[in-house]
Amino acid sequence: MSKAKRVTTRTLQEMKEGGARIAALTAYDAIMGNLFDRAGIDVILVGDSVANVVQGHETTLSVTLDEIIYHTKAVTRGVERAMVVADLPFMSFQISADDAFRNAGRIMKETLAGAVKLEGGKENLEAVGRMTAAGIPVMGHLGLQPQSIHLYGGYRPRGKKGEEAEKIMVDAKGLQEAGAFCIVLEKVPAELAQRVTESLTIPTIGIGAGVGCDGQILVYADMLGLTIDFNPRFVRRYESFAERALDAANQYATDVKNGMFPSEEESY
Ligand code: KIV
Repeated sequence: MSKAKRVTTRTLQEMKEGGARIAALTAYDAIMGNLFDRAGIDVILVGDSVANVVQGHETTLSVTLDEIIYHTKAVTRGVERAMVVADLPFMSFQISADDAFRNAGRIMKETLAGAVKLEGGKENLEAVGRMTAAGIPVMGHLGLQPQSIHLYGGYRPRGKKGEEAEKIMVDAKGLQEAGAFCIVLEKVPAELAQRVTESLTIPTIGIGAGVGCDGQILVYADMLGLTIDFNPRFVRRYESFAERALDAANQYATDVKNGMFPSEEESY
């Protein structure tokens, strides 16, 4: 069977221009990356949400660059077609443009990801410009920025007020000018996300940002219903895997304890 054609920055640009929507999900290992790739997901993000989903942390702040590299390597091994994007974790890009550039280079070289993502706007423009000039595709991330959670004191939507909305618009244009190929808009009013999307030539991918973005992304564990106690209104659950996994593990334990597993056919 012939290999599927890899999704690139150009593919995403053409999708925007042709009005085709981009489907994105997070993944943190080869098995899920492979499943989502087979399902036709266009962009697979190895998000710093790995901190919440895999590592059990409350915030994304403690993820290290080495951990992102470890998980991204696993995902790229499982993915043939989708663009794999790796998140630049907290403090891997904020110190200086030099630092950001070096760390993004490490991700690209060691993981074979197709792009990096970083949170923030005008404070990152030098770094974004240098990465882009060196051939590293950069995805921006505006609106709610979970790495700044302690500064803002919560996960409320961003851009509801005039000044904040204006800043998101200005940052989006700045990122585009600096060379970003795409921007994630997290938890911003649908009307603002649509205006940003229409004012940019590069695609936007929304999470809690309404249907007017060029694409949508969800954290896969939310989409599959694995996260039981996390119910923000922007999540649509397409499965109830937490309940199904609980039932399956319960049945397995019962079978083991009753001597019903393994059977003769399952033995050598
Ligand atoms: O880390 C992550 O999963 C993300 C998405 C929510 C966009 O940044």
